[in-house]
Amino acid sequence: EVENLGGSERNGSNEVNGSYAFFADGGLLVDDGCVIAIGEASQLLSSLPDDTVIKEHADALLVPGFIDTHIHYPQLDIIGAHGEQLLEWLDKYVFPTEAQFGDFHHAQRVAKRFLTELLRNGTTTALVFGTVHPESVDAFFTEAESLNLRMIAGKVMMDRNAPDFLTDTAESSYSESKQLIEQWHNRGRLRYAVTPRFAPTSTPEQLKAAGKLLREHPDVYLHTHMSENLNEIAWVEELFPHLDHYLHSYDDAGLLGRRSVFAHCVHLSETEWQRMAETQSNIAFCPTSNLFLGSGLFPLSKAESCGVHVGLGTDIGAGTSFSLLETMDEAYKIQQLQGHSLTPFKSFYLATLGGARTLDLEDKLGNFLPGKEADFLVLDLAATPLIKDRIARCKDLFETLFVLSTLGDDRCVRETWIMGKCMYQRDAGENRVFDT
Ligand code: GUN
Ligand code: FE
Repeated sequence: EVENLGGSERNGSNEVNGSYAFFADGGLLVDDGCVIAIGEASQLLSSLPDDTVIKEHADALLVPGFIDTHIHYPQLDIIGAHGEQLLEWLDKYVFPTEAQFGDFHHAQRVAKRFLTELLRNGTTTALVFGTVHPESVDAFFTEAESLNLRMIAGKVMMDRNAPDFLTDTAESSYSESKQLIEQWHNRGRLRYAVTPRFAPTSTPEQLKAAGKLLREHPDVYLHTHMSENLNEIAWVEELFPHLDHYLHSYDDAGLLGRRSVFAHCVHLSETEWQRMAETQSNIAFCPTSNLFLGSGLFPLSKAESCGVHVGLGTDIGAGTSFSLLETMDEAYKIQQLQGHSLTPFKSFYLATLGGARTLDLEDKLGNFLPGKEADFLVLDLAATPLIKDRIARCKDLFETLFVLSTLGDDRCVRETWIMGKCMYQRDAGENRVFDT
């Protein structure tokens, strides 16, 4: 049975209340890394070639892999650093830990642990910050490639207002980023993102160098932070006195567009919202981070009414969970505080197809249309006694998904599949992440 939410409410390009398909006894047919078909299991099974391998999953829900649209892999070891807001937290915890990533082997060890954690949590694609060191990106892409993951990452560009040991210059950031683009962008499933940290740590010259990279390589991404914290915004006004708002510092350098992703955007003005929409720029909504750093409440309904694409981000290490299920839970509460009750369909949309659109990957990821890459999850509807009992009492898919997004976490991820191969199995003992 295909259920529909009834009449898809399209808001510009943001099909957040759009239709979905649900098969109560469903099947997903995969070949050569891609989706061939989905449908009722009985129908799919009736027409399969003899040598088809069949896997059965009871008490489970197959969903597209989760997409994390903003995360910092070098911040793995500072999750849960107590007591500061953004700017103090950066000085006190982030910069000291990022200083270690000039060492390729250190970076590689952290990247491996980080990617294992993503798979454990059902995140199959992410847009990832490195550090200022090109080695940090080499290490990350080396590990992502060995797991055959679709990942987007880049070297931080940062030429002021940070410790000496973490700064580059407008020229060195340009040439190092360019070399990384040539080496990694479009290699297999990997993509490069030009990554100025945020306006306070880049001179206008460096932001212009970032713009030059985007013009010379029109299909690379732009990834940065914007309007997360009120002190940050006041600081940008001081640093760019000739500009009328924060977004202008990026716009001036040619950094807006449909492959540009801005993390946070908690406190945008009306003019900034309009410019985001006009340029088809995208937002990573990072609920656990916004709460942890006390940054503010992201106005999701404003983004929707403007037709700006939004995906979910964990923003590790300001975020407090790798799990997009836990991130959905906090997203719901943030919207509740603003008088909107996020539906579970919208939450799952944000973590899958919404993320794919935010990253301009809708042709490859986000749902099970034939031809899409077969990155998917086996979610366990009986992961804990409480979840099992609670879901047994749910009367429809809406309720089941909402309970999953409220109570769910990494324990609900039974398996994570990448390009049609099982790469993580929760119950497989010690060595649960498999190499390709
Ligand atoms: N703004 C600039 N750098 C950072 C960072 O590392 N994390 C977050 N959350 N915000 C930032
Ligand atoms: Fe961040």
